[in-house]
Amino acid sequence: MGEGLLIARDGRPVSAAPLGGSGFARRDGWMHADDVPVAELAARYGTPSYVYSASVIRSQYRRLDAALGAVPHRLHYSVKANGNLALLALLRELGAGVDIVSGGELFRALRAGFTGADVVFSGVGKTVTELEQAVEAQVKLVNVESDAELHLLDEVGRRAGRVVPVALRVNPEVEVETAHHYTRTGARGDKFGIPYDEARAVASEADRLPNVALAGLDMHIGSQLTRIDPYADGVRRLLELRAQITADGGGRDLRYLDIGGGLGVTYDEEREADLHAFARMIVPAAQDSGLELVMEPGRFLVGNAGMLLTRVLYRKRSGGKDFVITDAGMTELLRPSHYNAFHRIEPVGPAGEAGVVDVVGPVCESGDFFARDRSLGDVSPGDLLVVGSAGAYGAVMSSHYNARPRVPELLVDGARVAVARERETLEDLVRHESATPEWRTI
Ligand code: LLP
Repeated sequence: MGEGLLIARDGRPVSAAPLGGSGFARRDGWMHADDVPVAELAARYGTPSYVYSASVIRSQYRRLDAALGAVPHRLHYSVKANGNLALLALLRELGAGVDIVSGGELFRALRAGFTGADVVFSGVGKTVTELEQAVEAQVKLVNVESDAELHLLDEVGRRAGRVVPVALRVNPEVEVETAHHYTRTGARGDKFGIPYDEARAVASEADRLPNVALAGLDMHIGSQLTRIDPYADGVRRLLELRAQITADGGGRDLRYLDIGGGLGVTYDEEREADLHAFARMIVPAAQDSGLELVMEPGRFLVGNAGMLLTRVLYRKRSGGKDFVITDAGMTELLRPSHYNAFHRIEPVGPAGEAGVVDVVGPVCESGDFFARDRSLGDVSPGDLLVVGSAGAYGAVMSSHYNARPRVPELLVDGARVAVARERETLEDLVRHESATPEWRTI
């Protein structure tokens, strides 16, 4: 990982891999988030709770930003990974822009203090209302995923009296490895992006339409990428496309090369993406192109900055197996259930001899588990556990299933803590419902 080699823009050395792969460290055997004992957070705010570390987010942002320092670039944080307003504001202060995929995420970004110029708008199924909101906000780029969307956007631009900057999200059709096939997006036949062999024609169309301007070429090839060479393959394909567009006499407004998100983090044993190798692969091509680099990292910035804090409710033995039943479940962190994803689980305090257990939640689904056949310290009912690497695609993918209120999100910074989201109340569960709805004839 090249520990200690990276220097941030402010000249300070930046640490490499976050502690323990989850951004949290033990002192005297007890888990801490920055300088705050995690057990105290549980005592004060209850469980389950998400806990985020501001210092890990800062460090990740600065490392990636520094790695790309030789080329004009901007990191547009992918809001879908974790859209909490306090995290968005923290990233804004660091200099990030955002990558959004819905009107809801645009609303969040603006609420967190971003302006349209900070926003790239991705997404395979944008509605006309969302396109109108984007045009109204004057976003930096709308990453268009089809010819039909391009025409709709041109029409929206015409009605608003604006020329809308667009990037074509192209499917570069490269081989990608990710931990789960659900998070692969840049292969032939995926629903995302404009098929590579149609992109040249769509670019001509963009040049012809009066209310859109072809300002960028974009790709996003997958998430939690375990190899980085597909980025190089993808960039090569995008730049070949650019050469074709130029040969067609178009692309005079091209300014941005958006390479999407996808950088992987350490959940278990896997190594975090080597930023030096990544930069060596991307920066020269970006420099030669003369285009400004845009990147849309999500997980890389926040994944290991968060954990889910939960309490053991029960232990039981069934069918020859030991179960540890926690107060958090798939409603709080869906990834193990949905992607069979590995998340480290550790007791918050010192724990004795390890045993092999299934760690499961309270939700009425057999798929509600955090870990199967996992070696875990000897924990008892009442003990606290942390589920690591839960800062990305954790809270945002939570649900109310089984009428479970959403849990708080706590942001720790040094010795301080802020409630970035309060625990929902039971009233929140029924806020938009009525037992006596008003009946009408349509
Ligand atoms: N840009 C676009 C267009 C995307 O679709 C995504 C993620 C990103 C950027 C950010 O990717 P990242 O840097 O976070 O890998 N729920 C799944 C991940 C889905 C990712 C969807 N797109 C999970 O929990 O693994």
